[in-house]
Amino acid sequence: MSEDVLVVHGGTPLRGEIQVRGAKNLVSKAMVAAVLGETASTLYDVPAIRDVEIVTGLLEAHGVKVSTGPEGELVMDPANVTRAAVDEINVHAGSSRIPILFCGPLLHRLGHAFIPDLGGCKIGDRPIDFHIQALREFGAVVDKRPDGLHLSAPNGLRGIKYELEYPSVGSTEQVLLTAVLADGVTELRNAAVEPEIVDLICVLQKMGAIIKVHTDRVIEIQGVAKLSGYSHRPIPDRIEAASWGAAALATHGEIFVRGAKQADMMTFLNVYRSVGGAFSVDDSPIGGGIRFWHPGGELQPVALETDVHPGLMTDWQQPLVVALTQARGLSIVHETVYERRFGYTTELRQMGANIQLYSECLGGTPCRWGRRNFLHSAVIAGPSKLHAADLQIPDLRAGFSHLIAALAAEGTSRVYGVDRYISRGYEDFDGKLAALGARTERP
Ligand code: EPZ
Repeated sequence: MSEDVLVVHGGTPLRGEIQVRGAKNLVSKAMVAAVLGETASTLYDVPAIRDVEIVTGLLEAHGVKVSTGPEGELVMDPANVTRAAVDEINVHAGSSRIPILFCGPLLHRLGHAFIPDLGGCKIGDRPIDFHIQALREFGAVVDKRPDGLHLSAPNGLRGIKYELEYPSVGSTEQVLLTAVLADGVTELRNAAVEPEIVDLICVLQKMGAIIKVHTDRVIEIQGVAKLSGYSHRPIPDRIEAASWGAAALATHGEIFVRGAKQADMMTFLNVYRSVGGAFSVDDSPIGGGIRFWHPGGELQPVALETDVHPGLMTDWQQPLVVALTQARGLSIVHETVYERRFGYTTELRQMGANIQLYSECLGGTPCRWGRRNFLHSAVIAGPSKLHAADLQIPDLRAGFSHLIAALAAEGTSRVYGVDRYISRGYEDFDGKLAALGARTERP
């Protein structure tokens, strides 16, 4: 097997067109939702990424028949959902965070569930306390054992009133996927309302669920007795679209991201424009997208704060920081969602970027990490001439940022861990890089 490394000859502007498909962070959840239906579900425009393979493996381990069709069609038939062997599920231990979302659907269908150790990016502690608390309130018995979580619902699941301490995306999805078939009404307060969650609600509504999204982050779910399959075309991947937008800026290039949707990216687009990047939106129903380019001249520094939707997504932070190393002056980035999401800046510094990390909240809003001594604010002084380096990717989004930095830098970099991390969330990035004129090689 070849080494998991991409050799990048940097310094060439990326120019051309690529296509983004269904959002990873919706597709994987919609696949879990298919377990709730009594008939088959179909998702379109599913990207060929490893997270989809992992969820496919988990569905198949539980007896769901999964088949693929042309152009990213994925059909999931849950007619024969069965208990999976612990060993079969444990194959996926440590690979992703999606398994935790199987709790509600499996409890409804089988009365029990086994959830392996979770994986996902090492960007903070990422506890699952909200998930467990909510499930217990629904009536689940949760037994934490060395091999994973064993859950049962001896008396079924009943609707709850629950307020999240923080509007967590995964916990909101957990409550939605559990409440739709629970007995009675569930009221979730302080819910996350990311576009991927709204799209998941659309999926569940197609299946027969009754879900009301009120103002002030309140979601009310009226449990129903049964759900059927769905047919759904997911929202496009706004994280991937923004990553390519940042790559266009950092490499002085121009990229048309076919499929990118303005409405889901407004906060990113505002920042992009403030920094000095240019974009234009083509909203044709077929073939539309967003064109991103560096219009020439100097980029401007900005002060940013990541936040839950409708704030600036934490997953947009890393690609933006690479572009900010090229802005003249001091930029400030306050990361409020995850406590350890600046680990990747060590490699950027090695490439010549001038980035200092601080444990203080360098933003308008004091956040949870300020008093706990986490290096969660960054000051970036630019512009810095980036030079090539050997880079070890630490996680998915940071990995793509390293790739952007290597593409922007003078000289030849070796980026290690691309298959392990980047292919979890970016479809055919080798092919896309080639289409954009990047000079890369697989040794
Ligand atoms: C989702 O993670 C995404 N992953 C992440 O994208 C994304 O960064 C994140 O939402 C925020 O938008 C998927 O959708 C698969 P959270 P999730 O629960 O659901 C704390 C990517 O690269 N928290 O909203 O795991 C948690 O520690 C990934 O695609 C608790 O304290 O994120 C964090 O500080 C990376 N207890 C905050 O909430 C809990 O029980 C937000 O996490 C749950 C979460």
